[in-house]
Amino acid sequence: MDSGDSSHSLLSGRHSEMGSHYIVESGIYMSSFAAAIFVAALVTIGVLLLTLLIALTVMLESCQSSHSGVFEQVRTSDQDDYCNTFAFHAELNNLEADEFPTICKQHTLQYINKGRFLRELNLTVQVAESYFSTMTPSNDGLDVILMDVDDIFLLEIAYNGSSALHWSNEDENMRHLVHMIVSRLLIKLQASSWSVSFFTRRSMRNKNATIASLTSAGYGEWFSLIMRSDDELLMENWEYISGRRMQLRDQGFRIASVISSRMDALQGPCLGKRNFKLASPIYYKV
Ligand SMILES: *[C@@H]1O[C@H](CO)[C@@H](O)[C@H](O)[C@H]1NC(C)=O
Ligand SMILES: *[C@@H]1O[C@H](CO)[C@@H](O)[C@H](O)[C@H]1NC(C)=O
Ligand SMILES: *[C@@H]1O[C@H](CO)[C@@H](O)[C@H](O)[C@H]1NC(C)=O
Repeated sequence: MDSGDSSHSLLSGRHSEMGSHYIVESGIYMSSFAAAIFVAALVTIGVLLLTLLIALTVMLESCQSSHSGVFEQVRTSDQDDYCNTFAFHAELNNLEADEFPTICKQHTLQYINKGRFLRELNLTVQVAESYFSTMTPSNDGLDVILMDVDDIFLLEIAYNGSSALHWSNEDENMRHLVHMIVSRLLIKLQASSWSVSFFTRRSMRNKNATIASLTSAGYGEWFSLIMRSDDELLMENWEYISGRRMQLRDQGFRIASVISSRMDALQGPCLGKRNFKLASPIYYKV
């Protein structure tokens, strides 16, 4: 027991002696080295913390500003959406410009000034073009396309006639671009042998002036020009326009399409197989 113990204790004693020696020796050795590392580490951590603090401050600031930027964007796009929706509502219900909410005044100005009207007009015309590119009229000449010449073809008449605005007189360039866009469609339709009839809400009494305006605006050819007779002067626009469509149908014409920038031309019976609502500048007079 003893011998076994002693040898064990000797062994363990030697072990522990060796161990303690190692610990003591290495402890002394390590501590001076560790001190250097410790100080270096402290300095490094300090520098790192400072860097982190600066980085966080900068990030927080940029985050704050970009966050408020996003917030602004959301708010203005909300307002844009609202004003677009209201503009659609106004068109649908034939509202007057002064019924537009005040917060949309700036929006409506920008619709014209920043070129959105032109872009939308171009896009709506492209939709019509791509539809008609797949269609051909029959040879009897009875497939008719009805085009509204108010507002789009005759910008200046629309504005002179109503309570409005002279941007079209001032902005010849805009009128020129509108003319390029719609005459491109008109020329394509006429080249494909569609019978393109124009219609306007104006009285037949203004026939000569209207023809002169159409010609000077560059729209020289049409299959027929539909204007209000004296009997129709008191009718609602939609009633007069749809009445004329019914007359055409009774005469054997097939209405392929009604193309207009105004809702009142796209209501009532005898619409075309496919109709096109072009972008309208009319509700953007401020
Ligand atoms: C439209 O108004 C302008 C000036 O405001 C005038 O010069 C022009 O003759 C008018 N056009 C028509 C068709 O009345
Ligand atoms: C309309 O769109 C076509 C095709 O994208 C383009 O070539 C043309 O320049 C545009 N016209 C205007 C006036 O923006
Ligand atoms: C319209 O023009 C025709 C000739 O083209 C003329 O006979 C007629 O009197 C004119 N009408 C008006 C209202 O000016």
